[in-house]
Amino acid sequence: MVLRSLCSKLTVCSQINIHKMVVKISKVLLLDNVDPSAKTILEENGIAATLSKEKFTTPELIKELQAYDGVVVRSATKMTAEIIENCPNLKIIGRAGVGVDNVDIKSATKNGVVVMNTPGGNTLSAAEHTCTLICCLSRNVPAADASMKAGKWDRKAFMGHELYGKTLGIIGLGRIGREAGIRMQSFGMKTIGFDPLVSKEEAAKYNIEWMQTDEIWPEADYITVHTPLIPQTKGLLNDASFAKCKKGVRVINCARGGIIDEDALLRALQSGQCGGAGLDVYVEEPATNMPLVQHPKVVACPHLGASTKEGQARCGKEVAEQFVNVAKGTDFFGV
Ligand code: NAD
Ligand code: MLT
Repeated sequence: MVLRSLCSKLTVCSQINIHKMVVKISKVLLLDNVDPSAKTILEENGIAATLSKEKFTTPELIKELQAYDGVVVRSATKMTAEIIENCPNLKIIGRAGVGVDNVDIKSATKNGVVVMNTPGGNTLSAAEHTCTLICCLSRNVPAADASMKAGKWDRKAFMGHELYGKTLGIIGLGRIGREAGIRMQSFGMKTIGFDPLVSKEEAAKYNIEWMQTDEIWPEADYITVHTPLIPQTKGLLNDASFAKCKKGVRVINCARGGIIDEDALLRALQSGQCGGAGLDVYVEEPATNMPLVQHPKVVACPHLGASTKEGQARCGKEVAEQFVNVAKGTDFFGV
């Protein structure tokens, strides 16, 4: 959860312990197909909730939100500064998911609006999706399927390779990175990884050998990134790092577009330095980098990492429970 400024909109029961903070929430708008369990949980706890399928323009959303003190979004709705600043009744924004990139945190802070996310709700879904992309890359499944659907029976074109005995480099050993690693170990992959906030000892608990990135590049057959997109991770895989990798390295980005520099990736794919990429996220979404998306060695998905019934149900439930806790002043999960 991201909690920023506490201002006059909030009733702080204790000046010291923000876990006792109460935000009076009476009416919440649920957008972006948030799981319906959110509505049920809010209403069971006396908070009116409207589940809307509308895709609001900015002026429409500003108008709509005048009647609400809370809003829950997934990733489609961008809670921009313009919206936040023009909705004086808004006290809380819930993000049913991990990244809060679509919420203007600075503006929320300035305007005393609490921002909460659901850090663990879609971890397993995103980890499984990462593993799916690794498997697709190793056995050319999407291309083989497309070829079959085009009426061909081309066994020679899709020679794959085993994952057994290969090395997976994991950049970012947080919730998703480590779960993806654990799962790929069951294929017999060696897992190595880097995270500035995770110690060697902690990584070893997950059977992941901690290394610096410069040690990972020449070792890994596959590299998967699981960091937030921040200045330190933007373009983490770039021309220079690709040059240090094994020829034919395969890369996966199920985290945020731009962690792997898209132009450098396309160059590496064209030169053969990169042997394939599994992409779920893009610098611009919906994706506009068609030369990359359409490259034959790319397996591309439209940001599906969290798109499972289970993941969405967990996120919907978690965000609603957090709103209820905040309204009751019982807990501030994740602060
Ligand atoms: P997390 O916070 O649990 O883990 C992120 C890790 O990245 C942290 O351990 C952090 O220390 C590490 N990190 C930060 N800077 C780093 C750097 N320079 N090098 C290496 N590691 C660094 O987050 P998570 O829940 O595992 O999510 C990871 C990413 O996946 C986020 O960007 C999130 O938004 C994204 N995500 C995508 C989908 C999807 O649908 N594709 C779904 C869920 C999450
Ligand atoms: C997240 O940050 O939770 C994921 O990217 C999924 C999503 O945007 O819904």
